[in-house]
Order: sequence, then structure tokens, then C-alpha cells
Amino acid sequence: MHPLLPDGFLWGASTSAHQTEGGNTNSDWWLMEHGSTGTGHIKEPSGDACDSYHRWREDMDLLAGLGFTDYRFSIEWARIEPAPGEFSRAALDHYRRMVDGARERGLRPMLTLHHFSTPAWFSWDAAESAELFARYVAAAAPVYAEGVEHMCTINEPNMIATMAGFIQLLTTGAAMPEAGLPEPDHAVSQVLINAHRRAVEAVKAHAPHVRTGWTVANQVYQPLPGAEHLAAAYSHPREDLFLQAAADDDWLGVQSYTRTRIGPDGPLPAPPDAERTLTGWEYYPAALGHALRHTAAVVPGVPLIVTENGIATADDTRRVAYTGAALTGMAEAMADGVDVRGYFHWSALDNYEWGTYAPTFGLIQVDRETFARTPKPSAAWLGAIGRTRALPYLP
Ligand code: BGC
Repeated sequence: MHPLLPDGFLWGASTSAHQTEGGNTNSDWWLMEHGSTGTGHIKEPSGDACDSYHRWREDMDLLAGLGFTDYRFSIEWARIEPAPGEFSRAALDHYRRMVDGARERGLRPMLTLHHFSTPAWFSWDAAESAELFARYVAAAAPVYAEGVEHMCTINEPNMIATMAGFIQLLTTGAAMPEAGLPEPDHAVSQVLINAHRRAVEAVKAHAPHVRTGWTVANQVYQPLPGAEHLAAAYSHPREDLFLQAAADDDWLGVQSYTRTRIGPDGPLPAPPDAERTLTGWEYYPAALGHALRHTAAVVPGVPLIVTENGIATADDTRRVAYTGAALTGMAEAMADGVDVRGYFHWSALDNYEWGTYAPTFGLIQVDRETFARTPKPSAAWLGAIGRTRALPYLP
């Protein structure tokens, strides 16, 4: 059986600005990469990344040619508002051209307003952060006022809050957890939820037709027998809080890569015999189906879009195997009534994986010297589903 994608189902690949554009010199990440701020845990700087700031047309030509009908990319706040209240007309025009360029190629753009990087002058723990974010979102209206149907306000707010918790541990010298994630910074979590709401209001004020949501990292917390309560308590500040905050949204983004098992004393490392990917995560493609079902249970009635799912591997046959199995899990969840409206693979390109170029998530290989793009076999395989509209099914 090859289940057909429902009408209007989004079929795409994802990138983010800082990971692909290159030269994002006004951003907090650029400062951290060069040791001016942060904790010195970054292995290599982003540099020119994939030079997509200049080569975005080529990226879109490839994706459309492969069969994708949708492209998720982010616009870079650090370029649009390099100094507080100072907006760059040229940067806004640049992203407007990208929206038009996607449409011209038959790609529906899904815009992310914030994907981890911020202007160097901004911080999520300041009292006025939510208001400042909403001001930027309003100023970016010329980019999304026409031609955009779906927009994500903030990518993985739960990971941003967790990163804030991680930095606290590093700076205080406190012990890191041996498995699982550090405790998120609760104040930052609340600021992000507030910022999301303010951003949704700002978007709706300028472009009421845009369907707004945010995208949450799902870790698929799997309790061992007896650890159910512990798993629920562990998951709440790291995940469910952010899902619940989306209860009134037009859609909710599910981002899934692997699972985390929870034992009687907390998170467990991957089983010793598990296959691991280049990020060290357990190869566990069934995670996507579980993530969708869990999200639908926490916020019933909110349409879901898979906004990221993929694998860091140098062996492209494992990418096809992983993605085929993940899509089977998605098809089964949909057959059981989970309302899924789209799938975006992470990532369109091999790109800057937040501190290193080593883990390659791309459907398209990018030469680090010449920036030449070479689609991998997985890109042709996955893109073609955009034409046949038939999902692989590997029960
Ligand atoms: C992020 C991406 C990242 C990917 C793989 C997600 O946490 O949104 O920016 O590259 O996972 O780590």
C-alpha cells in the first residue's frame, strides 16, 4: 500500500538563515563563534556557510526541479534590524525577492521569523524581549504581506530555553546531565511564550490570511515501566509546556530526530548496541510517528506540520532508509486520524550545524570550497514524492 498525500499537503525541505547564508556578522552566534561572548564550546565558525545569501536562486531551482512544492527558510533578524529600531530596507527587499523567487519556481514559501540566531544587541532574558521581537515582526511585514501562507514565529523555543539553561550550567561550572537535556531556564521559557503571542498578533495585524504557528523539538520521551510519572514531569518544562502554548495556533510544527528513554532515575543513554548518527543520536526513525501522536494527544485539534525530520549521516542509503521508515510512521499516524498537513525534511543542504560542519543532514551536498551543490540520491527519491504524491510504506 502506498498512501497518497492529501490535497494541499506541503512537501518540502527546510533550512535556516544562519546555517546557510554565510557572513551573518551582526548576530549573537557570530560573536559566540569568534569567542567574543559565550562559553568557548564552539568548534568552528560558520564563515561563508553555503553562501545561500547569494546562491538562494540555485537552492530553489534545485528543490523545485527535484519535485518539492514547498520550501521552509528563515529570515535573519540580525540583518533586518542590525541596531535597535534601525531596519535595513535592503535586507527586507532581499527576503521579499526570496518569497517572490520561491513562488516563481512553484515553491510555496514557509517563513520562519526566528531560527536560533538574534541580533548581537538582543537577549531573550531582558524584560522587553517579547516587545522587541514583536516590533521586528511588524517591521518585516513587507516580506510576508503577500505570497506566504504559513509562518513560524520561533523555531524550537524549547531548545532556546534549554540552551539558556545549558549556558548557566557551563558558566557556573555545575555538572552537566549525563543523558538527556539540561533544565530549561524557566524565565526564558515564559518570555518566549509571550513573544510568540505578541508575534502572532503582529503578523495577523499586517497579514490576517497568514497561518501562524511555532515549531517544537520533540524528544519522544519513552518511559520504562514504572517511570511514567517521571517521564511526564521531565517532559513538561522541556516540551509539553511549549506544545500547550500552541493550543490556539493555526498549526503546530513537529520536529523529530530520535528518542530519549526515561528510566527510574531519569534519562538513559542510547542502548549500547544502537546505531548512532553523526550527531551521536540513536538511529530511531520511528520517533516521527511517536512525536506526531504525542503532540496530537497534548493539543488535540491543532493541525500538525512536520517542519523538521532527518538524519546526519555520510551514508546516503541510511538517509533513505531512515526517511522511508519515518514517513511510514507518519502515514500510520495519519491513518489513525492524526491531522498532519505537511512534511519538510531537514535539511535541503549540508549546512552549519551550530558549531561544526561535520554532521551532514543535507539532501544536497555543498562543497566547502566552491559552494557547488550536488543533490544526493536521497534528494531525487524524496523530491519525486512531490510529483507522485505517494508515500513509501515500509510496514
Ligand atoms: C534545529 C536545526 C538543526 C537540527 C539538527 C534542530 O534542532 O532547528 O537548526 O540543524 O535540529 O540538529
